[in-house]
Amino acid sequence: MSACCCGNFCDREDPKQRALQAAIARYRGVAGALIPLLQEAQEIYGYLPGEVMEQVANALNLPFSKVFGVATFYAQFHLKPRGRNIIRVCTGTACHVRGANSVLESIREALGLKGEGTTEDLRYTLETVACLGACGLAPAMMVNEDTHGRLTPAKALEVLKQYP
Ligand code: FES
Repeated sequence: MSACCCGNFCDREDPKQRALQAAIARYRGVAGALIPLLQEAQEIYGYLPGEVMEQVANALNLPFSKVFGVATFYAQFHLKPRGRNIIRVCTGTACHVRGANSVLESIREALGLKGEGTTEDLRYTLETVACLGACGLAPAMMVNEDTHGRLTPAKALEVLKQYP
């Protein structure tokens, strides 16, 4: 790695780094660039590594604390790697009374997760949500953009197999 035009030591051969530098070049000097640039950076990396936030801060002449503050304020930004498949298990009232907890427990156990989080192989990220707006299908979960309802613990695990 060598000193780059962005002022950081970054690997210009890395396709992600090249894409980030292209995004930075587009936003440099543009008012209100921080959030859209962070969004693009997250699309490229899947999350916002610290070094990427540093590069964004340097490129926009902002203190790192400002970039970090924005990245931690908005729920859309993630500071840790996320899985290829995002599982959102509903724990809202309708789902709760129809067995969401046992569905959630079976998924946690199968994925080896204690709470919410990401599997080591980055295949899945597990989250809980208050309502998916699919209460008639309770208990329900989403995997990426797909809604799956009337789940049982076993059915939930079968569904997950569809997402490599
Ligand atoms: S409470 Fe689960 S979808 Fe609404």
